[in-house]
Amino acid sequence: METLQESLKKILSQAEEAASGAQDLKKLDEVRVRFLGKSGEVTELLKDLAEVPPAEKPVLGKVINEVKNKVTALLEQKKEALELSASDAPPPGFDPTLPGRTLPVGKLNPLTKVLKDITGIFKEMGFDLAEGPDAETDYYNFLALNFPPDHPARDAQDTFYLSEDLLMRTHTSPIQIRVMQNHKPPFKFIAPGRVYRNEAIDATHHHIFHQVEGFLVDEGIHMGHLKGTLDTFIKRFFGSRVQTRFRPSFFPFTEPSAEMDISCIFCEGKGCRICKQSGWVELLGCGMIDPAVLTNCGVDPEKWTGFAFGMGVERIALFQYDIDDIRLFYQNDLRFLKQF
Ligand code: FA5
Repeated sequence: METLQESLKKILSQAEEAASGAQDLKKLDEVRVRFLGKSGEVTELLKDLAEVPPAEKPVLGKVINEVKNKVTALLEQKKEALELSASDAPPPGFDPTLPGRTLPVGKLNPLTKVLKDITGIFKEMGFDLAEGPDAETDYYNFLALNFPPDHPARDAQDTFYLSEDLLMRTHTSPIQIRVMQNHKPPFKFIAPGRVYRNEAIDATHHHIFHQVEGFLVDEGIHMGHLKGTLDTFIKRFFGSRVQTRFRPSFFPFTEPSAEMDISCIFCEGKGCRICKQSGWVELLGCGMIDPAVLTNCGVDPEKWTGFAFGMGVERIALFQYDIDDIRLFYQNDLRFLKQF
């Protein structure tokens, strides 16, 4: 007849074989029930211990318990291994060879793109970046820029006033004053920013829009430098075939003043719907900084001269992308934004 020791050895090797053959947790639990369950093979042996003579009980009990612990440990080990491989396994129906789904990605507003392109070109031309507050005082927005006290631009019809002295800047030119008063010449800056005008909104006008101011002050600067700088910028931005022309104009803070037009990029100057058959599109205001403005900033106009310009970013973006309504920039309509 088989001794208890022999039965234990057999049970242990059977348990090892059964556990290693279990392919999943359910099968493994069946192995546990078979050996360690209420009527399991190891449990039965422990029950048999009752009939063993008292003198042999401690030794046999110890051996059976050792087998029980070994079986428990090996089941535990196998369970961990099965759980680990189950967590690595793809869920049912998952095909790892299928291409992934692309997440919807947002697009830059064309205005942001144009603004980045403009500042990028001027940075490469050696201009530094300056900024100023959106809420300005009358002094920076008008007085220091040579606007006479009764200038119509100061009228509440054009300007959003926050108080008698504080207003939303109507252009980026006050940044010229702030920079010139706080730095020593020479100056070579561009200053992009949002500006505000109390105007009726239509396809080409908004009451909030963007400008990029540019100004350069040094010894011996003249109109030729202004024209050369703007012509270089335009050719970099729109392409080398685009022509520029300057027409006399008036701004209180520049003398002489000019408007710069560019040849229409759509019809190459022949005349079309976009340029209203003229072949030219007006793009920005510019001029030589008025000596009175330099004096207001503590810059000696006998020694230093400079030019300045201010361009409407929306106007450039409308033109570049052939968009016919300025309001589209602000509506956040994805069907519009996705086109750029
Ligand atoms: C000025 O604002 C001057 N500060 C520009 C300047 C700077 C001249 C430095 C000389 C030296 P103006 O008011 O023309 O100028 O505006 C400049 C540009 O802003 C215009 O050419 C136009 O492109 C744009 N702009 C003006 N009003 C609006 C509006 N309501 N909506 C959208 N763009 C506008």
